[in-house]
Amino acid sequence: MSKIRVLADHVANQIAAGEVVERPASVAKELVENSIDAGATRIAVEIESGGRRLLKISDDGEGMVRDDAVLAFERHATSKIHGSEDLAAIATLGFRGEALASIASVAKVELVTSTEGASIATRVTIEGGRMRNVKDAAHPRGTTIVVRDLFFNIPARRKFLRSEATETFHLTNLVTHYALAHPEIAFTFTNNGREVLRVTAAKDLRERAYQVFGEEFLSNLLEVSGGHPQVARISGYVSAPRDRRTSRDSQYLFVNRRFVRDRLIGRALSEGYRSILPYGVYPAALLFIETPLEEVDVNVHPAKTEVRFRRSGIGQRRLRATRDQRKSPRDGGRSKPGRYCRSGISRVRCCVRCYWSP
Ligand SMILES: Nc1ncnc2c1ncn2[C@@H]1O[C@H](COP(=O)(O)OP(=O)(O)O)[C@@H](O)[C@H]1O
Ligand SMILES: [Mg+2]
Repeated sequence: MSKIRVLADHVANQIAAGEVVERPASVAKELVENSIDAGATRIAVEIESGGRRLLKISDDGEGMVRDDAVLAFERHATSKIHGSEDLAAIATLGFRGEALASIASVAKVELVTSTEGASIATRVTIEGGRMRNVKDAAHPRGTTIVVRDLFFNIPARRKFLRSEATETFHLTNLVTHYALAHPEIAFTFTNNGREVLRVTAAKDLRERAYQVFGEEFLSNLLEVSGGHPQVARISGYVSAPRDRRTSRDSQYLFVNRRFVRDRLIGRALSEGYRSILPYGVYPAALLFIETPLEEVDVNVHPAKTEVRFRRSGIGQRRLRATRDQRKSPRDGGRSKPGRYCRSGISRVRCCVRCYWSP
């Protein structure tokens, strides 16, 4: 007797959800990205109980007609790419058509949406991957998605969620990231009924950083810009050496306005500060890398938080070249980079001496 079976859709979706939906912040990430892709000028994020009980994202984007609102929850249903040739140059944040199907398979979801000029909006309710109903509703142009009781049907995963404070921290970080990457969009963030962030549309990153972090943070930042037009342009801000952080939490890295965690960029940043910051201390940074779409592969991670650069070798060679110019001064630059501190006396990355008297 044969033993291989094709999994039912809702099981396949739950499996996919294991990769896409790690915690409330990953749900919010997908929904905020959908709003941005829909051309929203205002996005409101509301959470309760660290996003486990409720996550609500509203936008004023293009919305969906009824057929699309239903189809959106199917796996691999997307309006953003048509064929494999489009994968080479993805200009939208989403494209895998998996997020809504995954989220709906592990939560209770209600979507209300309306397009420009439509006389009536559509409400779709779906629980644990099962469509409950599709009805008329009232909603201005745009979309509101409410996600309740995340992992209600997968107790094992629910148990892995961290404390309300931790999940709220991740959500706050996430909204901050998207607010920084999109100064032209107005954002609000409400936690347990209390509004914790409200930013109106800003003219540029500087104004947005001021809205989000305040004047003191901004006055410690140095503007950077550079790069190579065919490969990548870099712009943004980095902290002055006196500003010292013990984690990378204040490093905001974006590739084509997509927030990423990238080891290559993180390392390059640390490398640049190596002679001024001791080991274990990190600069703050808001760095935007703009690269031609075909130079970067965004389809290497289910949650799209990692990217691969086609010409990462160039970056690494550049990195090495700059690093080699910074050899230890005491031995005429003969020592291996990275083995001596700036004063040339310590084998650790930086000694107490150059920390205090550079
Ligand atoms: N907030 C929204 N506004 C308008 N359309 C949306 C919104 N969210 C989702 N959609 C539509 O639903 C489709 C499926 O969404 P999703 O599952 O996130 O896949 P993807 O974003 O990868 O296409 C999108 O391609 C888009 O057409
Ligand atoms: Mg999406």
